[in-house]
Amino acid sequence: MAQIFPRWSNQTPRLITLGALAGLGATVFALYWWASPYHTDVGYAPKQPVPYSHELHVSELKLDCRYCHVGVEQGPHAGVPPTQTCMNCHQQVKTESEKLKLVRESWATDKSIEWVRIHKLPDFAYFNHSAHVGVGFGENRAAIGCETCHGRIDTMEVVRQVEPLSMSWCLDCHSNPAQNLRPVEHITTMGWSADMAWQEKQKQIAATLNPPGSLSQAQRWVDGELKTYATASCSGCHR
Ligand code: HEC
Ligand code: HEC
Ligand code: HEC
Ligand code: HEC
Ligand code: HEC
Repeated sequence: MAQIFPRWSNQTPRLITLGALAGLGATVFALYWWASPYHTDVGYAPKQPVPYSHELHVSELKLDCRYCHVGVEQGPHAGVPPTQTCMNCHQQVKTESEKLKLVRESWATDKSIEWVRIHKLPDFAYFNHSAHVGVGFGENRAAIGCETCHGRIDTMEVVRQVEPLSMSWCLDCHSNPAQNLRPVEHITTMGWSADMAWQEKQKQIAATLNPPGSLSQAQRWVDGELKTYATASCSGCHR
């Protein structure tokens, strides 16, 4: 007599249970991952409450990054502009725009717009913008451009993270920063590249720098002996 149910169907309830457990596990993991700082990774480009476009305001309207990110040369945080900065123009420009409704509301109620943070290091890692957009002293003063760490923001309608912000990413530059140095007047220039004369200068400037974790700092010749100072270099970024 033909079997109505094939023999493997005895396994079905177990498979369903296993499948459900795996699915539950994946959901729990996804929630955990999403809530942790580690989800902010390359390609992360969350939808913002206002469809503000860097492409339009930087590339077409030629606004300098520092018009809005005013903290970037003074301290650790670049900062996101208050609504007033937007209203400097939008009190006159596009005053009826639906896309700017939330901006007008924020201005009227004095409640900040809740921009979604994109680049975020875990709390145990220390980063300071001012120490990067300006490096070295005197004639060896130079800069690392926004572009080097954030990519071509001037082409982004929606900002996305282009670098991993991982420890090895930091250290890759710290051990060999030369090719990432540019003249200070080009901090915010997009699409900048070094000419031959500057390439020579880059090496000279790099030799005066001492970022944490770099070989020059971790290893130093003391009385004819090469010593390694690992802890000193760790505490530069883990304070
Ligand atoms: C008119 C103001 C304005 C100008 C000019 C501007 N930005 Fe922004 N920027 C913002 C606002 C508002 C946000 C938050 C919303 C968003 O992510 O689009 C932001 C977000 C960012 C972020 C992501 C912040 C995060 O949460 O991690 C980066 C990086 C950034 N800007 C870099 C730049 C660079 C580089 C330039 C110059 C090439 C620039 N911005 C010019 C207003 C501005
Ligand atoms: C050496 C790499 C580097 C350079 C150069 C750099 N950034 Fe950043 N930026 C970062 C990192 C790393 C973070 C995340 C910092 C954190 O979570 O503490 C960040 C975060 C930000 C943020 C969001 C958080 C904040 O600090 O307010 C903005 C806005 C920003 N950068 C704008 C800029 C602008 C504008 C420039 C150029 C003037 C610039 N950055 C240059 C690495 C860099
Ligand atoms: C220097 C002046 C200026 C500043 C500052 C400025 N904008 Fe604009 N923005 C403009 C102009 C001009 C346009 C319109 C371009 C056009 O004609 O389409 C515009 C367009 C827009 C649009 C699209 C409106 C639509 O209906 O298409 C949005 C959204 C916007 N801006 C948001 C912001 C936000 C948010 C800020 C603050 C972080 C800001 N802008 C700061 C000048 C400015
Ligand atoms: C593109 C190159 C580059 C990248 C990427 C970079 N740095 Fe740096 N950093 C430097 C240079 C160059 C210096 C040395 C500045 C000087 O000597 O004036 C430095 C200095 C520092 C300092 C010492 C300055 C101070 O405030 O004490 C810290 C801390 C630091 N970096 C942390 C980080 C962290 C954390 C990351 C990764 C999230 C990072 N850096 C990514 C180039 C870089
Ligand atoms: C140039 C800055 C810098 C230096 C120097 C540095 N770290 Fe880190 N470290 C970071 C950053 C940034 C992260 C966060 C990476 C992330 O979010 O993926 C990190 C993460 C870590 C973590 C967490 C695990 C992980 O990989 O996410 C450990 C552990 C750690 N560092 C130990 C050390 C030790 C030990 C040293 C000295 C040998 C050191 N770090 C030197 C920047 C640095």
